[in-house]
Amino acid sequence: MAPLLCPKTPEIKIGGHVQDVQELRRAQPTYVPERYVRDPDERPARSNILLPSSGVPVIDMSKLERSANSRWTDELGKLAAACEEWGFFQVVNHGIEEWLMESMEELTRDFFMLPLEEKEKYPMAPGTIQGYGHAFVFSEDQKLDWCNMLALGVQPAFIRNPRLWPTTPAHFSETLEIYSVRIRELCQKLLVHIAKTLGLAPSTFNDMFAEAVQAVRMNYYPQCPRPDLVLGLSSHSDGSALTVLQQDTGCIGLQILKDDAWIPIHPIPNALVINLGDTLEVLTNGKYKSVEHRAVTNEVRDRLSIVTFYAPSYEVELGPIPELVNNQPCKYKRYNHGEYSRHYVTNKLQGKKTLEFAKLQSPIST
Ligand code: OGA
Ligand code: NI
Repeated sequence: MAPLLCPKTPEIKIGGHVQDVQELRRAQPTYVPERYVRDPDERPARSNILLPSSGVPVIDMSKLERSANSRWTDELGKLAAACEEWGFFQVVNHGIEEWLMESMEELTRDFFMLPLEEKEKYPMAPGTIQGYGHAFVFSEDQKLDWCNMLALGVQPAFIRNPRLWPTTPAHFSETLEIYSVRIRELCQKLLVHIAKTLGLAPSTFNDMFAEAVQAVRMNYYPQCPRPDLVLGLSSHSDGSALTVLQQDTGCIGLQILKDDAWIPIHPIPNALVINLGDTLEVLTNGKYKSVEHRAVTNEVRDRLSIVTFYAPSYEVELGPIPELVNNQPCKYKRYNHGEYSRHYVTNKLQGKKTLEFAKLQSPIST
């Protein structure tokens, strides 16, 4: 679900007061209010939650980097297949230090464990999408996600709101700063390899994105007495180009939609989950897709994820890359990415609905 930010503050209708899920659970541990109970077709059936392993590709980043000067390698082939068939993969040997990932997880958990009054010092103000609170809630009858969030703009500097960067726990903000630099480097490297899988010049995406927008959202999913009835996070595709998700290894929660089935992404220690966002779907004219995903909850374990969204600068105009349209119908229009971001954050999360914005009503033959 990205980007978290947009160039101009959108006029967002807020769907009334949204209760804090951790507080709700503390007060009434066995109760699930009606506003969280999903319609039957959206519920994660129990059997679904316990699906066995998935075959989601695992990419070894060190192999990709070692052969950075070759045109094609087995690992690049694996990456190409992961992008084309899955839109999701995990990366190992990505170079982000274990201590940094662990500290980030620990500090984020410490943040969510703070008393509510402390967390509310960083409120997501009405009409904004940064801070502690609930974005994407627009009406009183909209179902709510079983999740608390802290969302922050990171880069470029003008999107930051320093008052929303927590001063407690100590070192949270400095650690996030270091972490974000490292994740940014990883995104840039991944974009080089992804460009190569498409036969494009390696710097294509990084050049095109200019000063990329980077935002982070930390999601905390408390235990839920009825995981079969609720969603931790509604189904959606990400509005980013790339998303990097660090999930705790304690329990499974992230699921992706593949061939009409919800497939869990099993946590691998120290791996990062990467998914392609709407921007890459448009740029590749749908060769690579931004896959729908959601989070489910767990009855006995809470769960944490730290999600970085990496997207083009708001100034960038984008549309399918001509070489990739190549005699096929062009499916998406050209648009300004800032406008797309604004569209994304002013609509509720609902599968891939936001991508309709970019679709041409009747694809143009080339
Ligand atoms: C997101 C997202 C999944 C998760 O934040 O966009 O898809 O497991 N999160 O937290
Ligand atoms: Ni997402």
